[in-house]
Amino acid sequence: MTNEFMFSRRGFLAAFGSAVAYGATAGGVAKRRDGEILIAHCTDPQFGLGPPRAGKLMTEEGYAHDLNRCLSAIEIINALDPDLVCITGDMTQSGMDVARDWPRLLKMYHPPVVVAPGNHDVGNRVTAAAVKRFQAVFGYDYTAVTVKGWRVISANSLYWWPNKEEALCAAHEKWFADELAGAKARGEKVIVATHVPPFVKDPDEADSHDNQPLAGRRARLDACLAAGAKFYLAGHTHRYAERMYGSLPILNAETTSVTGGGRPLGFRLLRIQPDGSYTYDFVRVDQGPAVPKQKFGIMSFNIRHGQGMDGQVDLERTAAAIKREKPRFAGLSEVARRTKRTGGVNQAKTLATLTGMHSTFGRAIDLQGGQYGVALLSLDKPFGSRQVPLPGKEPRTLLLVEFPDCVVGVTHLSVSAPEERRESVDLIKAAIAGEKKPVFLMGDWNARPNSDVLTAMRSFLTVVSDETGRTFHGRKVDGPAAEQEYCIDYIAIDSAHAPKWRVSSRKTVPDVITSDHKPIVAVIESADARR
Ligand SMILES: [Fe+2]
Repeated sequence: MTNEFMFSRRGFLAAFGSAVAYGATAGGVAKRRDGEILIAHCTDPQFGLGPPRAGKLMTEEGYAHDLNRCLSAIEIINALDPDLVCITGDMTQSGMDVARDWPRLLKMYHPPVVVAPGNHDVGNRVTAAAVKRFQAVFGYDYTAVTVKGWRVISANSLYWWPNKEEALCAAHEKWFADELAGAKARGEKVIVATHVPPFVKDPDEADSHDNQPLAGRRARLDACLAAGAKFYLAGHTHRYAERMYGSLPILNAETTSVTGGGRPLGFRLLRIQPDGSYTYDFVRVDQGPAVPKQKFGIMSFNIRHGQGMDGQVDLERTAAAIKREKPRFAGLSEVARRTKRTGGVNQAKTLATLTGMHSTFGRAIDLQGGQYGVALLSLDKPFGSRQVPLPGKEPRTLLLVEFPDCVVGVTHLSVSAPEERRESVDLIKAAIAGEKKPVFLMGDWNARPNSDVLTAMRSFLTVVSDETGRTFHGRKVDGPAAEQEYCIDYIAIDSAHAPKWRVSSRKTVPDVITSDHKPIVAVIESADARR
């Protein structure tokens, strides 16, 4: 491999990576030659390390940054379609309490994934309890897989740092030796992967936080060479590095959290030919903003399936009413999906197209050959969603949509009976209990500010929308003001997170044409954004 070749490939892949991130198709870029193996080497995704840290061990904003970059990496990896993804540790910044998103992420990779634990995952001095917590999330702390005749041995290098778990270390040492011997006996080519690299520059360098202890270092590397190991993949140092131990290249990839040396964020693609020659190319994933905006608008709007007060169903008018307020999230009630009365249109999707946002639909009931319910429009692409069925003569639903930095809920509570609304409140409370991210909840709750339902909602939510505005109007075009106009639409933040947010502005939009409800908007700002 020449540097020149590597440089040109690096530029190509960087461009390709960003193209994929913005939705272009792969177009066969990662096609393999016969016998070639492609491994995506990612390291130190370290959720919680990323900027902005403000001198703290980890911040929720840093977590969202790292999670966003990891999601971009997954998208690009899936398009590149490597044979294996090898993540060499530090999945988290501060242990398994912040590993909450990893089980779901692991399912998002199309290729098989092997993971080695890092010191941030299981501690600088590994303990049985920390290993157990790691195993509960990832299924193992050391493992080996065979891909296209290559044996990839992913070890737990923290057993090689000083610790008191003698029995665990002995079992791991035996497994490692057996794996090397077994691969050699089977004629498999070997790749070893660990979090902590054997050494940074010199095989005999003094012990440090950046290497494996001298005692045992050369013996282990010699054992790798004796077994015919061809590559050693590592992480931990947050720096790109390639160095040799005899014929064994030791390769450190860049990270998707924080990379030293002024290098951009990304991962490496190791492409190995049948003759053992290889390229080790950088794939950049730091295109576009990763830190979600900390000041943004939230809109709640009962759109009455797009039917305005002139009787016309006009989604372009509905979309214009949403776009005018430029919200990051718009929670919509009374949304039809492919019902007869709305011409078979998927209203959430159509509104998403018209507003340039992403849509998530939450079905409450089947109606006229289609469905009817709520929807969330969002500027950001959702990370996941779930629904909780709510009671009602006409059944209702709570739609919860997850983003890296928050959870956004939309619900349209029953109009028929107060008991059904009260019961719904308990179900909503249970659904968001224990959520670590801020929860923004909105919708047409069919209850007035001084009602029992709102009192119950206030036991766990802080309303941030305008409660003086008469959100339901029911006015005919050019007709007199309706007799009954009152506030029944709300935007709220879960009370545990509410103190971290300030309401910059709130309003009831004086639009009495687009629907029988007026849109409401709250612009909120996090404490971190004001620092
Ligand atoms: Fe580390």
